[in-house]
Amino acid sequence: MTRLTRLLAIAAFAALGAVGAPLMPLAPMAEAQQVNPTAESVTEDKLFQALRGDQMIEGRASIPDPKAPGLIKPGNKGWADTHTGTIRALTVWTMIGMVALLGIFYAYRGRIRIDAGPSGRTIKRFGGVERFAHWLMAVSFILLALTGLNLVLGRSVLLPMIGEGAFGALSASGKIVHNYMGWAFMLGLALAFVVWVGRNLPKAHDLTWIAMGGGLFKKGVHPPAGKFNAGQKLIFWSVVVGGAALSFTGVMLLFPVLAGTQADWQLYQLIHGIAAALLTAVILAHIYIGSIGMEGAFDAMGSGEVDLNWAREHHSLWVEEVEGKSAGSQGGGRVAPAE
Ligand code: HEM
Repeated sequence: MTRLTRLLAIAAFAALGAVGAPLMPLAPMAEAQQVNPTAESVTEDKLFQALRGDQMIEGRASIPDPKAPGLIKPGNKGWADTHTGTIRALTVWTMIGMVALLGIFYAYRGRIRIDAGPSGRTIKRFGGVERFAHWLMAVSFILLALTGLNLVLGRSVLLPMIGEGAFGALSASGKIVHNYMGWAFMLGLALAFVVWVGRNLPKAHDLTWIAMGGGLFKKGVHPPAGKFNAGQKLIFWSVVVGGAALSFTGVMLLFPVLAGTQADWQLYQLIHGIAAALLTAVILAHIYIGSIGMEGAFDAMGSGEVDLNWAREHHSLWVEEVEGKSAGSQGGGRVAPAE
């Protein structure tokens, strides 16, 4: 063969290849049936085509967890999309709903002031252990909520704003923070439960407080309340129940070997997302009322001392109890002039 005829032959083969390629739609299907999942060049698409129904692509693992070798189960992609969609919608709408409610409430009521004005005398509200428990639980919860929110919404909200590099670094460290902060939260939650459960049991006067809307909607209305009013008891039990649900399912997600079947694990993931969205919305309301929403409230968790008039207006039965004890112990030093 001359050089020219060799070149012509190569060109003819190339042209035939280009025309013939679209005419072979059945070839990848047949290839997919015999795909070798361990071959390096296997693409995800080919593997998915090779799988039918509920099959799984498995590797090898030397640990005793039977789920560990499972790499991809295409059937789960559908479930994962539904799960992510549900959690995302719930998270977005509960957040937007709560922020809107708080905005409306603020526009209507403004900051709730101490009606009688500050008295200049303070009363001890929370000791060191109570405040430590509160802030351990609060700081860890806020970090968990922010890093969890990034898992649910980061890709659609944050990624376009800060770019891939920053988002990747942030998400990688966020995941570590999320995994470790869970333990601090559980400790804070357990401590808060022990120190406050006795004060959060329902009492008859809670019904009066609820019937009067907690006095939240009208200036000068102050229903009687003990150390915690009915609204705070609701917050407390939401934190306890929601926090316990988040803790249990969180540990299952961290250690899938403990989680039972794959369906159990998926259920835990769903509960984790739903509990997180609902509790975060409740906590947004709590943070609002414990800071900008009510004059004098933050001091309770800041210095631990609150103004006596604030305490009389919002926790009258508790003040009577403390003053009764102080009188019994000849002053006892629990009510003091403000410094
Ligand atoms: C910056 C964030 C927060 C602020 C400013 C804040 C503020 C407060 C204040 C002022 C109190 C005492 C109210 C009183 O004297 O009656 C309180 C109590 C409490 N906080 Fe927080 N808090 C925050 C975050 C959290 C978080 C994240 C949680 C739980 C995950 C939480 C759970 C509780 C509970 C269970 C109580 C006792 C019940 C109640 O007062 O509702 N707090 N907080």
